[in-house]
Amino acid sequence: MRLLDLFCGAGGAATGYRRVGFDVTGVDVAAQPRYPFGFHRADALDVLADPTFLAGFDVIHASPPCQDYSVTASLHTSGHPRLIEPTRARLLSAGVPYVMENVVGAPLFNPVRLCGSSFGLGVRRHRLFELSWPLLFVPPCAHYLQPEPIDVTGTGGPAGRLPGQGGGIHRKPRNLTHARAVMGIDWMNRRELSQAIPPAYTEFIGTQLLDHLTTTSAAEAAA
Ligand SMILES: C[S@@+](CC[C@H](N)C(=O)[O-])C[C@H]1O[C@@H](n2cnc3c(N)ncnc32)[C@H](O)[C@@H]1O
Ligand SMILES: [Zn+2]
Repeated sequence: MRLLDLFCGAGGAATGYRRVGFDVTGVDVAAQPRYPFGFHRADALDVLADPTFLAGFDVIHASPPCQDYSVTASLHTSGHPRLIEPTRARLLSAGVPYVMENVVGAPLFNPVRLCGSSFGLGVRRHRLFELSWPLLFVPPCAHYLQPEPIDVTGTGGPAGRLPGQGGGIHRKPRNLTHARAVMGIDWMNRRELSQAIPPAYTEFIGTQLLDHLTTTSAAEAAA
């Protein structure tokens, strides 16, 4: 199955899908020298409007930049355009199953929320996923396993303790090795880690996505 990974960054989401067997191709407007799979440098909205480019992909994942939607948006002066709505419109036109990921507070339709504590990670990193098909099961948070979750936002500063967005005390990673370990990612720098989602999230979604795609194509073949 071929998966198109839009707004791909350095490939956190991509790696989870790859782990369950997807053939992944990434698109990002910025160069991504550490993206581990096939990569095209392009504007994701242009790609979504190009039927020739989209031909042959079975599913599309999109992670539009999230600064303008996050609960800390007022702290940012990033000026990122709001990309969720135009991305959704083009995903629906593309006519294949899709996953759109973003931060808590983003205007996603009927999203599921995943948490690092559900996957034994050191980060909590709540993220929302809008899916074009229903997930059968969503693991609940297990915060009791993370009395002091690690916060990998930022590009590295003193390894202190600080209040977390969802309450409780978060700690900063001790160093790059620690930041990578708590995310389950061993190839990114601190800036890339701060934008990535843990591959465990898309490994989980990808497993159910494969089931969905297999069932759908079997039903189409039988029709
Ligand atoms: C939140 S990061 C994606 C992180 C990635 N999903 C991961 O798990 O590693 C968003 C990415 O969108 C890219 N981006 C921003 N605007 C874009 C556009 N119009 N087209 C393609 N990529 C864009 C940024 O360069 C950035 O790498
Ligand atoms: Zn949680």
